[in-house]
Amino acid sequence: MSRPALIPEDDVIEGVYLCSQLDLPDLFGAAIEDQPGLRLYRPEDVPDPSRIRFALVWRPAPDAFEAYPNIELVQVIAAGVDGVLRNPSLPDRAVVTRVHDDEQAAIMAGFAAWHVVWHHRQMGNYLAAQKDATWDRTTIKTLRPPSQVTVGVLGYGLMGRTIATTVATMGFRVLAATRTDGPSDDGITRVSGDDAVQQVAAQSDILINVLPLTPSTHDILNADLFAQMPKGAALVQLGRGQHLVEDDLLAALDSGQIGGASLDVFRSEPLPADHPFWTHPLVVVTPHEASVTSPKAVTDALVRSVLEMDAGQRPTAAVDKTTGY
Ligand code: GLV
Repeated sequence: MSRPALIPEDDVIEGVYLCSQLDLPDLFGAAIEDQPGLRLYRPEDVPDPSRIRFALVWRPAPDAFEAYPNIELVQVIAAGVDGVLRNPSLPDRAVVTRVHDDEQAAIMAGFAAWHVVWHHRQMGNYLAAQKDATWDRTTIKTLRPPSQVTVGVLGYGLMGRTIATTVATMGFRVLAATRTDGPSDDGITRVSGDDAVQQVAAQSDILINVLPLTPSTHDILNADLFAQMPKGAALVQLGRGQHLVEDDLLAALDSGQIGGASLDVFRSEPLPADHPFWTHPLVVVTPHEASVTSPKAVTDALVRSVLEMDAGQRPTAAVDKTTGY
């Protein structure tokens, strides 16, 4: 990035892109270049690692932070920060911040709503009938009105709230599992407490997961949970791959306990070509693209956090490292 002409060298706040998968400078460089007073380097271009005070990251390599002894702030380009909090070289002193992007939540909610309709309307039946040019009007005969269908949402941060509100507007009965108590929003029943996930799952005809990944939510979508759900319920998995015990889902699909699944995230990404999910007739696979942050939202979040850090404040978007969100 070119240096803003009027800002003395000592006043420039320097940062580094750290990512093992994406070309972050390509995605965000143009938006960040307009920010006077901030300079971001690729690791190989950093002139003095001791001057680096912040990093913009996505899935950084395990040793990514080691070269920078003075990093104070780590801005993740997404809503989920699990991959960074687990990074062994993340220094204790570094504050981790994430993106709160209403647009990302709206895209996510539309995607979740589409899958709710997919399962509610049994769209797989129509696609199968179309293959044989069959005009089969029997699916509608078993249709339950949305008010009699319960959609559970696991997680009630920005993503969960936006999904729950959207699905409630479509007429479904919506339950949301949240860690903390709070007022129920319009048309949404909020369930809190240690067994909120189990309580919500036990009533859900369609269960949408957008929990953050933490030690207590790891493997939470498992055989026990599926057994508590209404027979034939559907799972919409938009959280993190490590929430789901994949073999347990395959067994629940094969037994009919789970009637269908929409999966956007996986324990191993990209999903290996020989994974049974790809060809399972009851599974819809998408490649971790349920939603996306915009370069502008990321840049705005980064600039705000860096300026707050520079002013000696705890950034507004800082995550609590003990809860993991
Ligand atoms: C995407 O996976 C995100 O965490 O925003």
